[in-house]
Amino acid sequence: MPHRKRYLFVCTNRREDGHPKGSCAASGSEEVVKLLKAGLLKRGLGLETRACGSTCLDLCEIGVAMVQEPEHVTYGRVTAADVPELVEAIATGGVVERLVVHPPDEGAGA
Ligand code: FES
Repeated sequence: MPHRKRYLFVCTNRREDGHPKGSCAASGSEEVVKLLKAGLLKRGLGLETRACGSTCLDLCEIGVAMVQEPEHVTYGRVTAADVPELVEAIATGGVVERLVVHPPDEGAGA
């Protein structure tokens, strides 16, 4: 099994309908994971970067939440429409700044 250089952990936690916290799965995260996998493969990055589902990242209020490691970039409100831009950023070593969720101590709010 190859050891990937980078991992994209996308929360695919699902809560029951009507739960006050909502859930990333209810916001479309499972589709985001599928599209990320397909986009990475298409871009030739499938052996270098792995997209996978995770349990709750405790960022429910900004879901769909995704963490990119080892860069430790946190993304929020990710949609299927954002996937091409995210794949391109990974391919070029960039970050999709408009989706980045900064820790409160960075002053940008979460
Ligand atoms: S349900 Fe996705 S971060 Fe909590």
